[in-house]
Amino acid sequence: MKYQALELQLDDTQVTPTFIEQELPQLAADQVTVKVAYSDINYKDALTLNSRSGVLRQYPQVPGVDAAGTVIASTSANFKVDQKVLLIGFDLGISWPGGYAEYITVPAKWLVALPENLSLQEAMWYGTAGFTAALSVRALLKYDFPLDAPLLVTGATGGVGGWATAFLHQLGYTDLTVVSRNPAASDYLHELGATNIVTPDELADARHKPLQKQKFVGVVDAVGGDLLAEILPQVSYSGIVALSGNAGGNKLATTTLPFILRGIRLQGIDSVSYPAAKRVAVWQQLATDFKPDNRALLHHAIIDFNELPTTLAEFMNKKHQGRTLVSL
Ligand SMILES: NC(=O)c1ccc[n+]([C@@H]2O[C@H](COP(=O)([O-])OP(=O)(O)OC[C@H]3O[C@@H](n4cnc5c(N)ncnc54)[C@H](OP(=O)(O)O)[C@@H]3O)[C@@H](O)[C@H]2O)c1
Repeated sequence: MKYQALELQLDDTQVTPTFIEQELPQLAADQVTVKVAYSDINYKDALTLNSRSGVLRQYPQVPGVDAAGTVIASTSANFKVDQKVLLIGFDLGISWPGGYAEYITVPAKWLVALPENLSLQEAMWYGTAGFTAALSVRALLKYDFPLDAPLLVTGATGGVGGWATAFLHQLGYTDLTVVSRNPAASDYLHELGATNIVTPDELADARHKPLQKQKFVGVVDAVGGDLLAEILPQVSYSGIVALSGNAGGNKLATTTLPFILRGIRLQGIDSVSYPAAKRVAVWQQLATDFKPDNRALLHHAIIDFNELPTTLAEFMNKKHQGRTLVSL
């Protein structure tokens, strides 16, 4: 059977998205073919259009690191035809044909059965961003902070930071400062659960002292770079920063002082290779106690497959809020 996929083709340094027709492959052992209902756009997906970003090592490639849909064929005892499933990360859309296609054929061990109380659309509304936010919030929850503990979230107009803000609000946290460079997003961020909004400049200490007033016990950071360097000196004694992103760069210029004098922790968060066996529990939380009553407030746009090349190309430069889903 033939189906449509969006393929990225490389000519010198120029990457061009092109719709192609593909034939469904024969299933190998423990593989599953899924009819994709929704995919989405993550920061990483947008980077695939930049051949110098290093996200893709080879072109041509069908991108799309997330997909959710219905099983149409399976050689795995764990997944049956007509079952609804979701997949984020692993090699999907990086070195394996990705979710920007009407069908994907993938190793069964990458798939998660769609939890009850979650639709395919909601699964991709979360996608890699929501999953990463959940891992970050889980990292904070290990420290049993009281509900009025001062917390900080960066990149909150985006996917990871937006979901982290919504999850923390849902869990009852009442002192949520978020960082945004966009003053126009203030109402949106308050609706998501932010109680205080600051710009990166307002957060920064002009003297860049290595130890500053202890302001935040827990931080979800999706930006990294210079902003993280400003945050670390403001983390309270024994506090934790769950770092997932590098939207602000991947270099970190800091000192050891907050670590050795305040015992703070910097925990890296990785969604891509997060063990398959542990994913079910995270998705279960996303379908239950993390699932925000106010999730409709986290902006999402749903685009058609044929709009994807344009939307993907604009993703980095055009201001967007929340999540962008792709309907297949
Ligand atoms: N570790 C993992 O497994 C994992 C998984 C998912 C994503 N990520 C990473 O997490 C980051 C966020 O991903 P996303 O999908 O949420 O992206 P996104 O939707 O584009 O959101 C990123 C947000 O970060 C803020 N931002 C961007 N550049 C900035 C800068 N130079 N300084 C300060 N703030 C900046 C923007 O907010 P304002 O415009 O409001 O300031 C933007 O809304 C990316 O670096 C992505 O690669 C990592």
